[in-house]
Amino acid sequence: MENKAINPLISPKPSEAKPDTELESLRIWGKHPLSGHVHISGAKNSVLAIMAGALLCPQHCRLRNVPSLADIAKMRQVLEALGVKIERHNDTLELDTSHLSTSKAPYDLVSQLRASFFVTGPLLTRLGTARVPLPGGCAIGARPVDLHVRGLQAMGAEVHIEHGIVHADIRGSGGRLKGAKIYLDYPSVGATETLLMAATLADGETIIENAAQEPEVEDLANFCRAMGAKIRGAGTNTITIVGVPNLHSVDYGIIPDRIEAGTFLVAGAITHSEISISPVIPEHLTPVIAKLKDIGSEIVLDGPNRLRIIPGELRATDIETLPYPGFPTDMQAQLMALLTLAEGNSVVTETVFENRMRHVAELVRMGADIRIKGQNAIIRGVSHLSGAPVLATDLRASAALVLAGLAAEGETLVQGLHHLDRGYDDLETKLKGLGAKVQRVSP
Ligand code: UD1
Repeated sequence: MENKAINPLISPKPSEAKPDTELESLRIWGKHPLSGHVHISGAKNSVLAIMAGALLCPQHCRLRNVPSLADIAKMRQVLEALGVKIERHNDTLELDTSHLSTSKAPYDLVSQLRASFFVTGPLLTRLGTARVPLPGGCAIGARPVDLHVRGLQAMGAEVHIEHGIVHADIRGSGGRLKGAKIYLDYPSVGATETLLMAATLADGETIIENAAQEPEVEDLANFCRAMGAKIRGAGTNTITIVGVPNLHSVDYGIIPDRIEAGTFLVAGAITHSEISISPVIPEHLTPVIAKLKDIGSEIVLDGPNRLRIIPGELRATDIETLPYPGFPTDMQAQLMALLTLAEGNSVVTETVFENRMRHVAELVRMGADIRIKGQNAIIRGVSHLSGAPVLATDLRASAALVLAGLAAEGETLVQGLHHLDRGYDDLETKLKGLGAKVQRVSP
């Protein structure tokens, strides 16, 4: 075990450094029909977990199909602060994790990116100790880490929180966590991923019950299996991991981003445009496709990993967000933007996060008729939206406002583009490729 000082904050490499987008806006001239094809990038949420997972192996990892996103640049900074050497060539990341120089993740970085808490499990298994600041709340809800902590404790780690920092240590047992049977009170994506990673190198068998079934959990498990981990059941609600003494280097391709894919399908539906998207894994989009069909669009398979949306008249429907395979909370705001223009009344219920309706006020500013009652948004379809200056409050809210802007009459100015850049790889170039009239503007 080591106990070195926290590394200084490391700046992003020039190739990834982006201008501060907090003050930038996207100007959208609405009502231009879209057409053509969009390439879907790799899944943000897979990459974030898998980058942390790379710490499990003290060798070289190559990740392919990595999108260019602000969140990924931040995660890179977190790993570099721990001593990982990282190079990026186009959409490939090369990670050399052979020299971890500290078990302490820097507060400045962890506080900016909740996903950086994922390093806790791998640091603990690699170094026997981890000091990771609590990621804190964020715009969409409080987002505690109690399930991550309780699971690690069940595996024999000593975990306590002091001055806002999670202190996790393995004492005795030859420096290894012990396999355990863990029931998650809620199928948390992050907790499932933390515990799955920790269990790969534990002594004995770990069973995670009521595990998250999201495709990104399965992608992380496949990545770990490619490094030699023994995991079965990922993608179901019971995951079994038999710990191995060590993992080896890997070359791994990330799955396509189902949320980016879903956002472009909504772009087709809301602008009444026929567009196609690839690559996608259609099963990952089942709940989104089902709702788009309810709302009036046809979605056809145009090849094994390609979908085409054939838009129709928009009809109201009800949506409730749920853990996978239920309807994803990360698509709630985008579908709400679509429902503002659907004939009839819709109810959108958010059950995953407690504060994920902040786009409502901005959609109302554009002429939408939405009332919030507790977890529900009641939407009365209107005949048109009108362009307005609006403020993005979180990642998916910003996507919803862009979609609304594409369908609105006149000009919309979406401010706060740093949220959009966290999770969409060059959205405006992709939209322009479809014929949208959009332009990034600096103050
Ligand atoms: C991940 C995704 C995020 C997505 C979410 C739900 C990443 C990087 N982010 O976030 O895009 O919206 O899944 O699909 O993969 N909770 C607890 N205690 C815990 C952990 C979670 O109470 O220890 C609660 C949260 O506050 C939230 C709910 O469980 O209300 C779901 O959170 P979780 O599934 O953990 O989401 P994240 O992993 O944070």
